[in-house]
Amino acid sequence: MIGLGTMGRNLVYNMCDHGYSVVGFDKDTAKVDALKNEAGDKKVLGAHTLKDFFDALKMPRVVMLLVPAGATVDAVINDMKPFLSKDDMVMDCGNSHFTDTDFRIEQLTEDQIHFMGVGISGGEYGARNGPSIMPGGAIEDYERVGQMLKDISAKVNDEPCVSWLGAGSAGHYVKMVHNGIEYGLMQLISEAYDLMKQCLDLSNDDLHNIFSKWNESRLKSYLIEITADIFAQKDDLSDSSLIDMILDTSHQNGTGQWTSQNAMEMYVPIPNIDAAVTMRNLSALKEERLHAQKHMAWHKVEFPDTKEELVSWVENALYFSMITTYAQGMALLQRASKKYNYQLKLDNVARIWRGGCIIRSALLDDILLAYTNNPDLQNLMMNNELTLDLVVCQDSFRLAVKTGIETGIPIPAMMASLAYYDCYRSGWLPANLIQAQRDYFGAHNYERTDRKGIFHTIWNQK
Ligand code: 6PG
Repeated sequence: MIGLGTMGRNLVYNMCDHGYSVVGFDKDTAKVDALKNEAGDKKVLGAHTLKDFFDALKMPRVVMLLVPAGATVDAVINDMKPFLSKDDMVMDCGNSHFTDTDFRIEQLTEDQIHFMGVGISGGEYGARNGPSIMPGGAIEDYERVGQMLKDISAKVNDEPCVSWLGAGSAGHYVKMVHNGIEYGLMQLISEAYDLMKQCLDLSNDDLHNIFSKWNESRLKSYLIEITADIFAQKDDLSDSSLIDMILDTSHQNGTGQWTSQNAMEMYVPIPNIDAAVTMRNLSALKEERLHAQKHMAWHKVEFPDTKEELVSWVENALYFSMITTYAQGMALLQRASKKYNYQLKLDNVARIWRGGCIIRSALLDDILLAYTNNPDLQNLMMNNELTLDLVVCQDSFRLAVKTGIETGIPIPAMMASLAYYDCYRSGWLPANLIQAQRDYFGAHNYERTDRKGIFHTIWNQK
């Protein structure tokens, strides 16, 4: 293992727990020493130099990297090059951009070095106790390490949350989309919090209770579970709840943005995820927002008598939007699979997301069933059971969205989710007018509803 930050170190211990002996290296020698000191009687060796590291490994070697994505991965690969020999294998387990992974595979293959892009989700806890693992690359390479990955992964009903996903950068692509979905779900949960907190004037204890209850329902998921915990956390430095002391400016490492960028390039609509990325950017405009707040007033609309109903509307809104968020992520995977020739099996993706990762949820059981029954399902929303859920939830969802609009509480991801559904179920959309305008000002042609062919009109131009 190269890279002994918390994730790397925890993965090392996880491997040791399953009987593997591991060598660890980090440029920061303090981390190497910490690895050895904390290892106890585990079969761990800490190497202070790359030479010691490579000398200690059995040939052909398997090297896992858990270093920051981007330039650091290339720098580490460069440093390793003099020590690598034919048939050694390097697994990049960080959040690398999938195009970098394709490039690295190409480069290293020239030297007969094998390279795999492996997405790992689950944070520190997952790394130590069982993450969800998304490996991509040559199937023969996966077979060399598949058993080890199965051993260290999370298990759901005894099934390991790891599966070979496809050739090339398939693993890192799936991890990117996982993170896009993660962004979408986090934003939606935050909007639910905002609506309930502001409209109902709920305390953090109330919110803790609502989210805890939701975690026993169809919303059951890791993100709902930790949200319930967050509302119960007291602050060490003040008398408040910690949540009320945290600055409302969210940061990002880029994987959500990459998902949106790539979806745009492939013409796949993922508006919930786009809204979530936009909201991270908007939240960062703290100073501007504080200024605008003084000038752009919205009269406070009193909340009607239906207070207690709002919680149930918001629950429906969240469930509805969770379905559409996964649907958008899956639609993106489906398109990418064709474009990049990954040959992804969406049931496998759903299967390995059920445990260990940040987006694990009860809903993934239904998603797994949906793709098991119909691997070519065009859009997850078209699965009979889920269609029915959406249809049944929509009245409440519309009321939740209406509440946001009337009160001026921003709920962009929920609104995007509803719009996605409304567009998708519209047999007719006003795109005819767009086409007419394009043809009017730019002679871009249009198709007709009554006959085949491409048409252009000399419009009534002045
Ligand atoms: C995971 C997470 C993880 C990611 C964080 C931070 O699956 O364990 O996705 O890989 O680094 O969620 O992402 P942002 O900093 O972009 O929010």
